[in-house]
Amino acid sequence: MDTKIITNPSEQDIDMLARALRNGELVSIPTETVYGLGANGLDPEAMDKIYAAKGRPSDNPLILHVPNSESIKPLVTEVSSTAQALMDSFWPGPLTITLPKSDLVPDRATGGLPRVALRCPDHDGCRVLLQRAGVPIAAPSANISGRPSPTTAQDVYNDMNGRISYILDAGPCTIGVESTVVEVHDDKVIILRPGGITKAQLETVVSTVEYDTALVGAETKPKAPGMKYTHYAPDAPMTVVVGTPESVANTFNELSKGIEGPIGCLVSHETYELIKDDSRFMCHCFGHHGDALALGHDFYKSLLHFNENRVTLILAEGVNDDGFGVAIMNRMEKASGHHIIYK
Ligand code: TXA
Ligand code: MG
Repeated sequence: MDTKIITNPSEQDIDMLARALRNGELVSIPTETVYGLGANGLDPEAMDKIYAAKGRPSDNPLILHVPNSESIKPLVTEVSSTAQALMDSFWPGPLTITLPKSDLVPDRATGGLPRVALRCPDHDGCRVLLQRAGVPIAAPSANISGRPSPTTAQDVYNDMNGRISYILDAGPCTIGVESTVVEVHDDKVIILRPGGITKAQLETVVSTVEYDTALVGAETKPKAPGMKYTHYAPDAPMTVVVGTPESVANTFNELSKGIEGPIGCLVSHETYELIKDDSRFMCHCFGHHGDALALGHDFYKSLLHFNENRVTLILAEGVNDDGFGVAIMNRMEKASGHHIIYK
């Protein structure tokens, strides 16, 4: 199969993509977080193709994408006032909510779980396509399972060429890190995966917001099945260092002793100024020291860039584990296999 990239789509293109999705084909869709690998979320055979294309473990459920909050009604048994408040505040946006599923949702979408994950992306082109498709679109990130997530159409193409029919190219994703996944109860919300919406933001709407115990270090099984797998991993070994620009630079120098380049370094401008004279370092500057949003935007992109350049080692500067930094450090922890040094 040839994978066709569609840029600047005409009305006819959008109709054609909507039809392809309804008919069970795979179409990569842009969102504000990362590119998704879309299939008809009511069609188990179409969703089987997602698992095959990604090499995804079959117990890992999919997020169903919808154009607005009204569209979730047939997919769930009930919309509680807490769920409604969350949708009113954060949709469209990078918040995925899980609610008890209705019979309309195939078990294939939820990996047999009783809840379905739902998300309305903050991306106009994506929502137009979802509206035209007229069915919920199941879409995991459009990468081969285990690899960094794609934030451009080219990234999708590099992993998925020959495996899917179309990629709708809408330029780079604005956020660059996946949505926050929450389990919604009547009186509280449990964060299963940190992401684009922070705990503090959720607390402005729901009084009790907790992290899933599996996220805070306890040896328990995560409630989001996907959180237990190796994820986002670059080809080279990776270490993350959190500290001042001086301590990050010193630690990079220590860690790179005796190692031949190229060494991929994901750093702030401030740290870059301290290490730029070492010719082994292939530096990608994300922005200013401590800027979690900027780091999130460039994180997957830089890992894929380092893969292309076959670096021998990746050294990355982390950020504080608060606010949006929680999501970044969660991804960095997984990508590095928990190699994080706090200075
Ligand atoms: O930003 C995003 O969420 C992107 C874009 C494409 O929308 N999608 C995405 O999908 O990251 P994926 O499949 O890569 O990650 C979905 C996460 C996994 O950790 C999965 O286990 C969890 O959500 N999940 C899905 N359905 C669930 C459910 N019913 N209960 C608990 N966790 C669920
Ligand atoms: Mg993913």
